Amino acid sequence: MLIDTYGRVATDLRVSLTDRCNLRCTYCMPEEGLQWLAKPDLLTDDEIVRMVRIAVTTLGVKDVRFTGGEPLLRPGLVGIVERCAALEPRPKISLTTNGIALRRTAEALREAGLDRVNVSLDTLRPEVFHTLTRRNRHHDVIAGLEAARAAGLDPIKVNTVLMRGINDDEAPDLLQWALDHSYELRFIEQMPLDAQHGWQRSDMVTAEEILTALQSRFDLRPEGRSARGSAPAERWVVDGGPARVGVIGSVTRPFCRACDRTRLTADGQVRNCLFAREESDLRGPLRSGADDAEIAELWKAAMWGKKAGSGLDDPAFLQPERPMSAIGG
Ligand code: 5AD
Ligand code: SF4
Repeated sequence: MLIDTYGRVATDLRVSLTDRCNLRCTYCMPEEGLQWLAKPDLLTDDEIVRMVRIAVTTLGVKDVRFTGGEPLLRPGLVGIVERCAALEPRPKISLTTNGIALRRTAEALREAGLDRVNVSLDTLRPEVFHTLTRRNRHHDVIAGLEAARAAGLDPIKVNTVLMRGINDDEAPDLLQWALDHSYELRFIEQMPLDAQHGWQRSDMVTAEEILTALQSRFDLRPEGRSARGSAPAERWVVDGGPARVGVIGSVTRPFCRACDRTRLTADGQVRNCLFAREESDLRGPLRSGADDAEIAELWKAAMWGKKAGSGLDDPAFLQPERPMSAIGG
């Protein structure tokens, strides 16, 4: 098991498959992009499958989520999903994507064994999409969502980050749209994980504000404490149900005490927290002949050192060196 000194057990593995992206969301990356990882530094498809196999067969991991950067930019994704779906015990497999390339990949991913998808979409207005992501791809994301639905992926979750003065007036419209299309919408508070280090607490649209905005048009009832479990989203029943909306108060309503995550970066480093300032290298041992048991021991040691919380509320909080795009959402 991947247990830490606070008794938390990590059963949910997030694997970043690439740090590259075809968007430039302002809360994530600068216009010019970043210094991308060099190809030889990335884990190969075989190495990724081996790491997932170790996690699933010996470390108790039950859920595997592929992220990026943008995971659909990884050429071998379908094959990776297929091989992970063949593992015993079979993990649940999900994907967090900006959705642009889903139109041409959703069907193959579903056939390969993908169970669920989370698509990031912050606005219903193409021109606002351009302001937020610096790319004109709104229609591609919408088409991607439709392809995911047509391929039978269910549920389809949509992740939204609200930015003050840009799309913070859209919360109720986004929820209405999600209800109309049976997408499960989740708002995520903006976190200090941008490469430019431009995050300011005062700029962040809080969970409280989001709920107030939604309540201006919808009746929201809390789904209840037990339902949240280790999921970061607090969920609300909309207008009597069955639809739900999630609000992830990563900053103002942290869920660190129930965290069940372990993360693997595209270059083979284990991170025990999104906000950790240390990583544990597993690629080195992997490439110098360590066996599965040795890798598993190193992974366990990396998780044992997990801190109690993100430290966001500590005045001495320092942003991790790597931005979100290199860690995996
Ligand atoms: N704060 C909150 N969410 C973020 N995401 C990317 N960067 C940030 C940030 N700084 C979101 C993306 C995606 C998910 C992986 O995380 O929009 O939905
Ligand atoms: Fe790409 Fe996601 Fe970062 Fe936007 S938030 S630039 S979609 S990695």
